Formats: sequence, structure tokens, C-alpha cells
Amino acid sequence: MKKEADLKFYKRYTPNGLVDDRPITSSTRLILREAKNLGMEIKHLIGTNVFKLKYRGEEKDFHFQNPSCNSATGMYIANSKRATRNLLQNNKICIPTGYALKMSDSSNQKKEVYDSLKKPLVVKPDRGSQGKAITVGVRNFSEYLKALRKAANYSKDREAWIVVEEQLIGYREYRVLTTRDKVIGVIKRIPANVIGDGVSNIRKLIKIKNSDPRRGEAKDHPPLFKIEMDDEMKEFLKKKDLNWKSIPLKGQRILLRGVSNISMGGDSIDYTDKVHASVRELSLKAMNSIPGLELGGVDFMSKDITTKQKPGTYAIIEVNNSPGIDIHDYPFIGIKRNAGLEFLRVMFGEL
Ligand SMILES: Nc1ncnc2c1ncn2[C@@H]1O[C@H](COP(=O)(O)OP(=O)(O)O)[C@@H](O)[C@H]1O
Ligand SMILES: [Mg+2]
Repeated sequence: MKKEADLKFYKRYTPNGLVDDRPITSSTRLILREAKNLGMEIKHLIGTNVFKLKYRGEEKDFHFQNPSCNSATGMYIANSKRATRNLLQNNKICIPTGYALKMSDSSNQKKEVYDSLKKPLVVKPDRGSQGKAITVGVRNFSEYLKALRKAANYSKDREAWIVVEEQLIGYREYRVLTTRDKVIGVIKRIPANVIGDGVSNIRKLIKIKNSDPRRGEAKDHPPLFKIEMDDEMKEFLKKKDLNWKSIPLKGQRILLRGVSNISMGGDSIDYTDKVHASVRELSLKAMNSIPGLELGGVDFMSKDITTKQKPGTYAIIEVNNSPGIDIHDYPFIGIKRNAGLEFLRVMFGEL
């Protein structure tokens, strides 16, 4: 017989007595909070992540952070790193040098791509997200083949695209939340890291950092995530001759991952008022390269975000649909932006 907890799980998928007991995301909560403040009528389509909002006689819907005004085309492009890269490049926006290939391509083709790019490389599934199945810091051919397999396993399809590109070195990473005509917020993202106190080892420092009540579990969709000690992290540390027991010096920052996604335990710092005007211009240009995308999260890499961005000093690695808007409201450090309200403006225009 099934345990009660299991039955509850299956019940979500039955046509009768549907109970959606999954927590809604913290981004969704921000949108709903603002909708409520404005006196909107809110309806949750139970058993889905779709919400309907009614305001001044107009009814609109959204799911996660996708307003329904996003077109299918916009969603398709933002979901494909390869398609996004091509559109950005056509619009003369700098992207990392790279190619897209498939597992079904010949060994020669794979080798040709490998040989033509400057190491280290980054390998990622075309339709991945949240840093999953990405390998950063690929320096030799066997690591490259392993990284291709990892990306292909994630896609479960030999015909799925895999993006291989040169790793940007000496760049910092930012997330620009933007509509087609207005930048809402800019967050600097630092990969999961700990800062030494001269006494505690890495394991202990992670435990201390994770005790911050703002850091939650993935299942709760929090604005900041607990740092998970997994094999990937172990390998990353090993490459730097470190392990869980290593004791960093007082004040020394130890990076724990190659990817800086907040969902991978990264830190978020508000930079909205610090960026050079060209960062806004380029982010808007990137958004407007994608037909039908009304709200996007631009992954912007820059050597110095406070100066004019030029080729060789910046690159855009992807544009996301359904960007987490909560990171702009609950930054690890910095000013809160009211991204929930901006989201409603995308849906309803001036409020
Ligand atoms: N070309 C690159 N150079 C340096 N770091 C990269 C590069 N591509 C990806 N990364 C790192 O990996 C992370 C995830 O890559 P991204 O393309 O944004 O995929 P995802 O959809 O999983 O967020 C980035 O936020 C960045 O930290
Ligand atoms: Mg990304």
C-alpha cells in the first residue's frame, strides 16, 4: 500500500479533487502581492502555475515570470541558447566565440570545433537552465568529450544542440532584468563562495553561510539558495588542490563553483545604479533582437560594468524568459527594486 505522502503526491495529477500543494515561487508571490495592493482580482488555475489577473475590466494571465504577452516565438528563442546567440550576433552584439553541435555529429566535426576554439571552453545544453549540465573550464580533449556527454544526457537526445564556447576570463557576471524599453534592475552574481575566518574549514564555512534564513531549498523557490556540497563542487575544489577540510585564510574568498547562477548557491548584489549607460543600451538592444519577448533576464558579462562597454570588454551569454524577479527584491547586498510592480506594468501598461 502507498504511504499517505505518496498518495498526496499523485493526487495532484488526478482530474478530481485537484490539490496543488507545491509552493508558488517567491517571484510569483511578489507579483501577487503587488496585484493585491492594486486591488486586482486574482484567480489561480488550480493544478497549474497559471494565474489570472483582472484589472479595470481587463483580464490577463501569467505563468511563473512569463506574462501572456510573450509570444510563442519569443519563448522558443529564449529557450534556445543557440537561437539566441545567432540573433544577438546578427544584431552585432558581442557573444562568446563558439559553435553549436550535436552528439550525432561525427568525431571529426567534434574535434574540429574543439581545435578551433581557445581554451578553456564552456559546454552547455542548448535548452538547459539554472547552470544544470554545464561544464566550465574544459582544458583538454577528454574533458571536452565528457562535457559533451553530460550535456547530451541532460537533453536525452542525440539530435539536441549543444553549445560549445570559449570561456570568458577576467569578466564579472551580471543579470539585467529588462522589458523591451526599460531596464528594471541589475544584479551582480558571484558564484557560490565562502570567506575564510582563519579557523573554520570549507565544510564549516558553508554550514555557517547556509544558516542565513534567506537561503532556502530549491523546492521552495527562494530568492537565495543554500550551497549544496555535491560531487561537482568537490571536483571543482580538487582542481584548485582544495577539499572540504581545507582552511582558508582570514578574509580569503574561496569560489566553490564555475557557474554563478543564484540557484547554484551564488550571491546577488544590486548594481542597478552603478552600471554605465551602455549596459542598459546593450541589454535593451539584446531584448529587441528577440521578437515577442516582453520580459527577459540578460546574462551580461563585463570586465568593468562602470565604463563604456566595447567589443572585448563585454559579452552577452544568454537571454532568459521567465527570469527570477525576486533576486532584485531580495539581493544578498543592496537596494530592493519593486520588480513585481514592473512585471504588472508589462502586463497592463501604466498602472
Ligand atoms: N562563455 C562563458 N564564459 C564564462 N562563464 C560562462 C560562459 N558560459 C556560461 N558561463 C557560466 O555558466 C553559467 C550558466 O551559463 P548560462 O549560459 O547562463 O546557462 P543557464 O541557462 O544554465 O543559466 C553562467 O551564469 C556563467 O557563470
Ligand atoms: Mg544563465
